[in-house]
Amino acid sequence: MRISLYATLATLALAVPAVAQDGDAEKGQKEFNKCKACHMVQAPDGTDIVKGGKTGPNLYGIVGSKPAAEEGFKYGEGILELAEKNPDMVWDEASLIEYMTDPGAYLKAHTGDDKAKTKMTFKLNKNQADVAAFLAAHSPDEG
Ligand code: HEC
Repeated sequence: MRISLYATLATLALAVPAVAQDGDAEKGQKEFNKCKACHMVQAPDGTDIVKGGKTGPNLYGIVGSKPAAEEGFKYGEGILELAEKNPDMVWDEASLIEYMTDPGAYLKAHTGDDKAKTKMTFKLNKNQADVAAFLAAHSPDEG
């Protein structure tokens, strides 16, 4: 058990390189107002960090988790294809920044499928690093 846990942690550490990020989590929480129409950030024990809608998946713990991994959420084919083609991928701050900037372009780039479509009809064009830092601050499994 212990060995496999360390192996898992080692894999995670490799998959989530410690890139220096300059996002400000506090500013990011305000910027997240643009996301909360569709996303909540709710801990597994039911604590609301940000109350939000259900059009998109709960983003608690998103840093360090695989794409399209929320059980019971009906993801689109594009992001499922992303997960399938990148079985070792976990979200980190850099990939979240790229994704929220243009989710459709992100899926096309990282599936290699020009027809990949996203169900997220929103693009954030500023302060992405702050939002990523805010999400990382509510991702206990990170690193
Ligand atoms: C209009 C609704 C809407 C808004 C606003 C929105 N999203 Fe989304 N988001 C979605 C939907 C729907 C999905 C599922 C995407 C799919 O299935 O293709 C999604 C997926 C995601 C994912 C992937 C989650 C996973 O489980 O892999 C992330 C990360 C994300 N959104 C971040 C954000 C952030 C950060 C913001 C604010 C900057 C935001 N979203 C704003 C609707 C939205």
